[in-house]
Amino acid sequence: MSSLLDAPNTPDPNDHEHASNCVGCLDRRQMLKRAGLVTAGVAAAGVLAACGSGGGGGSTNDTPSENTGGGSGALAKVSDVPEGGALSVEDADGNELLLTQASAGTIVALSAICTHQGCTVKGDGGELLCPCHGSVFDLSGANVSGPARKPLSEVDVHVVDGEVLAGKT
Ligand code: FES
Repeated sequence: MSSLLDAPNTPDPNDHEHASNCVGCLDRRQMLKRAGLVTAGVAAAGVLAACGSGGGGGSTNDTPSENTGGGSGALAKVSDVPEGGALSVEDADGNELLLTQASAGTIVALSAICTHQGCTVKGDGGELLCPCHGSVFDLSGANVSGPARKPLSEVDVHVVDGEVLAGKT
């Protein structure tokens, strides 16, 4: 890729404002042009990096995927899940989940993968917040505000002896 940054440093013959004898020197207009290109390039790279990071690889994921939680074993103790809040956990397959307890004893497991572009959603008081673009979900996974428009996927879990286990039974 070529850019003005790689362009030879020749004076502009039409530039009458700067009739300098300094061959190879940049005039003010050339400096501003090049600085603008560098700034635009850095800004573009930042936007791309922001879209490509955060656990989702930057792909659009507006379709909730089925996630059964995988494996067996306790994800957490019910007592570890804050009442009126959420706990981030990982299942045996490395899937990031949110266990929520909107009311005492009612545990819901959700995929923590944002349905907008795949960032990892975290508990934020009584809501679930995506740090990438600010989507908000309630503790049932329903979308409260965008840019995500779809709910978080529910994951099957069950409770035995005060422990939240992956799977239906
Ligand atoms: S990835 Fe964009 S709001 Fe979550």
